[in-house]
Amino acid sequence: MRRVGINELNDNMILAKPIYQGTRLILERGMTHLTKYKGQLSNLGVLSLYVKDKVSKDIEIPDAIKEETREKCKNAVSSVFQRLQEQGNFDPSILDEALQNLINDILAEEDIITSLHHIATIDDDTMVHCVNTTVYCILIGMRKGLSKKELYFLAKGAILHDIGKVDLNESILLKAASLTPEEYSHIKEHSTFGYELLKQNGVLPENSRLIALQHHERLDGSGYPHNLKGDEIHLYAQITAVADMYDALTSKRCYRKSMSNRKAYQILTEDAANGKLNQKLVACLFDHVAVYPNGIVVYLSDGTHGIVKEQVPGQPFRPIVRVIDDTQGIDNVALYDLNLSKNPEISIQE
Ligand SMILES: [Fe+2]
Repeated sequence: MRRVGINELNDNMILAKPIYQGTRLILERGMTHLTKYKGQLSNLGVLSLYVKDKVSKDIEIPDAIKEETREKCKNAVSSVFQRLQEQGNFDPSILDEALQNLINDILAEEDIITSLHHIATIDDDTMVHCVNTTVYCILIGMRKGLSKKELYFLAKGAILHDIGKVDLNESILLKAASLTPEEYSHIKEHSTFGYELLKQNGVLPENSRLIALQHHERLDGSGYPHNLKGDEIHLYAQITAVADMYDALTSKRCYRKSMSNRKAYQILTEDAANGKLNQKLVACLFDHVAVYPNGIVVYLSDGTHGIVKEQVPGQPFRPIVRVIDDTQGIDNVALYDLNLSKNPEISIQE
């Protein structure tokens, strides 16, 4: 399996992961003749797909959670937001079962090194961000040794971390151009709005509620809304800050394209070195999230290129690469696997 842009699709490829729009299945796993769906996919904002083809047929892409769990979680969080917006009725208990499944899935794969580049359609973006951020939080929390009960309260606060955005002006929230200072101040209010909403509702413990309030605080006091420093910020909010930022960088937004895991890794480690993010928590994230995920194309320093085939634990920059040698022509492609952790003279360039 590998990930390709929709412009690279050809009719020898088979769809390896289904595409959903909300609860609706758009394209089923196993579909062929993918080129004829290019226009439709592009209209939905789907710019890449997971496919199987000759060069990638035995490459696996491990998932931290089952597809079914992801869909249930996305739907549960979507109905929490929808009820709140349409009826003013806030009921986070809808999330309970989905979150328990999420935690169980992740705990069952303790050693996983994954990447959550879930293919989202335009209208799914917010819900996918809520679920991804929660998965990253659980991965960090698990690495940090939190108990199952603690993971549950972390997850419940994390999935609702941006609930305050329901009170924001949508035209500002979805604005593609840069924000004016007034608009940015308005966006920043979502932390307080979210915390107040959770407090009024009273079903979540304070530890979980603090995630909504403090997930934009930074350890050096440069965050908002209260410029808290260091341990003044609750551990759960420090975890969510790392998870939220990582998912925001690696997902596409209305104002920019998504960033590679490698680039996001660099930004997060720099922010940790500069005292903004908790260094240990950033390290915990990258113990479970691949810098060069399986299935992506990489260009190597010896002039060859290939697809990342397998992760090597403890060697985030040196995975095993399936090299595609097409120097003898497109019909005479030779494939071989190169373990970069055993070939220190070769590195990934791009
Ligand atoms: Fe936020």
